[in-house]
Amino acid sequence: MKNLISFWVGSWETSAGTAAEADSILPRLAQLHLNTVLMPVAWEQVEPSEGTFDFSILDHWIELARQQHLHLVLLWFGSWKNGFSNYAPAWVKEDTRRFPRAVSADGAPLEILSTLGSETLKCDRQAFSALMEHVKQKDQEQQTVLMVQVENEVGYLGRGRDRSVEADRLFRAPVPAELVEKLRNARESFSPELRAHFNPSGRTWKDVFGDTSDEVFMAWNYARYIEADIEAGKGAYQLPMYVNCQLPAPAERAGEYPSGGPQPYYLEVYRIVAPSLDFYSPDIYWPNFDYWIDRYKFAGNAIFVPEARIEAAPFNAFYAYGEARAFGFSPFGVDSLRTTPEASGPDPSISDVYAMLGSVSEMLLAAQASGDIRGLVLHSNSPRPTQTVALGGYLFEATLSRSWPAKTLLTDDGAMIIMQAAPNEFYMGGSGLTISFYRDPDVDNKLSGIASIEEVSREEGNWHTLRRINGDQSNQGRQLSMAPHQVHLYRVILYTIDRSSSAPAPLCVNQPQCANNESEMASPIAR
Ligand code: DGJ
Repeated sequence: MKNLISFWVGSWETSAGTAAEADSILPRLAQLHLNTVLMPVAWEQVEPSEGTFDFSILDHWIELARQQHLHLVLLWFGSWKNGFSNYAPAWVKEDTRRFPRAVSADGAPLEILSTLGSETLKCDRQAFSALMEHVKQKDQEQQTVLMVQVENEVGYLGRGRDRSVEADRLFRAPVPAELVEKLRNARESFSPELRAHFNPSGRTWKDVFGDTSDEVFMAWNYARYIEADIEAGKGAYQLPMYVNCQLPAPAERAGEYPSGGPQPYYLEVYRIVAPSLDFYSPDIYWPNFDYWIDRYKFAGNAIFVPEARIEAAPFNAFYAYGEARAFGFSPFGVDSLRTTPEASGPDPSISDVYAMLGSVSEMLLAAQASGDIRGLVLHSNSPRPTQTVALGGYLFEATLSRSWPAKTLLTDDGAMIIMQAAPNEFYMGGSGLTISFYRDPDVDNKLSGIASIEEVSREEGNWHTLRRINGDQSNQGRQLSMAPHQVHLYRVILYTIDRSSSAPAPLCVNQPQCANNESEMASPIAR
């Protein structure tokens, strides 16, 4: 089942593409249970000579997407992609007088367009507005194109900031009073990084932002440029527009990662300078996926992950939709995935995850909206072997599934999503985890147990019970073990009893003290 609000997304975007590539890629992606594809639209391709536009490739992609019942998110590769400017047309690249470059600390012009070129901004705006006008004409009825990413992973690559003559002049001048004033009034939403450096009584960028002044200065300049682009784009066609961010590696300095991009550090500057941006999105390739996505969970920001490491995607998707309540999660390079199970490798595939989540999309959306949803992801190298989340009065304690009796790990990765459908009734989807259930002592002092576990599926809106899980399969009624390397959905009904009603010889419902018999605690899977 396809869903138009939660996106089961993949990004296909290493190059701007040809019309023919749509013919081979889009049908395959539709088979992989994606409902939305991110595709680039490069400035050099749509405006090969100044003022002459060609949208034929885009038109073909839109038509093919419609045939495959897919949606598209357009990535505007205008002045910058990954910080550089290699998707700008040759007529822009060649004319460094009209379209000035950013300058490095040693005085060399870089292949990075300066944020301060007024002609560059004018031409980028014109091209972007022509694109949006074209999409409006072609698509406003059918709305195959859902939203637009403006530029790609912007930020200055080099020593901290652009050192062109104009940039140096502005950097030495006072920080615009309006920025300081608005920041002064927004302190409660500052990131820890901005809070640590902001000095409103200063005058120059260096005084006001200290060691982070290069980065904040670049954030101010990129945000101004992007705001002007969006103004032009939305002026033609009002679609949601966002920016994506290249996140820092540990110990990287600004300029080693794109300085002044929409990292979570100085987004307050973006909020002030670029109010037309609808949301900020992290591209998450680092292993601590949960840390980075959580940094974008702040009031007013809808969570969308436009790029993510494909190998970890089947697990991180559960965290994104379940815990971060994302409306879209998009592994990068999804066109490399094969449609046959034999070709997709030993792990669950993102396609299995999307198929399962897609089958319960109404429930997922309702649970996201009401907050009756949790998710977690665990790896063999996670800092703790267990992770616990609370939902609906219960604690769900997960650990990676192990064999019995050898107790070796059956998988290095596991993840789950839990949606509460009714009091005591949960739908749990995931892979590779063994989950114990406890009553949450912060809710009441009852005892809890498993009433039933069923493996279920949903097709065309109809529920099917595939098997009832009990006995060895539920560790004698104490745990749910999700098969490793596969994705399944379970309906779990829990119950509570009052402590006072338990018999003197205690009923071994799920409490930690009942779990000390080693052989009984082993995963039932391998029995
Ligand atoms: C991040 C960029 O946004 C993408 O366009 C692509 O270059 C990937 N990195 C490649 O890893």
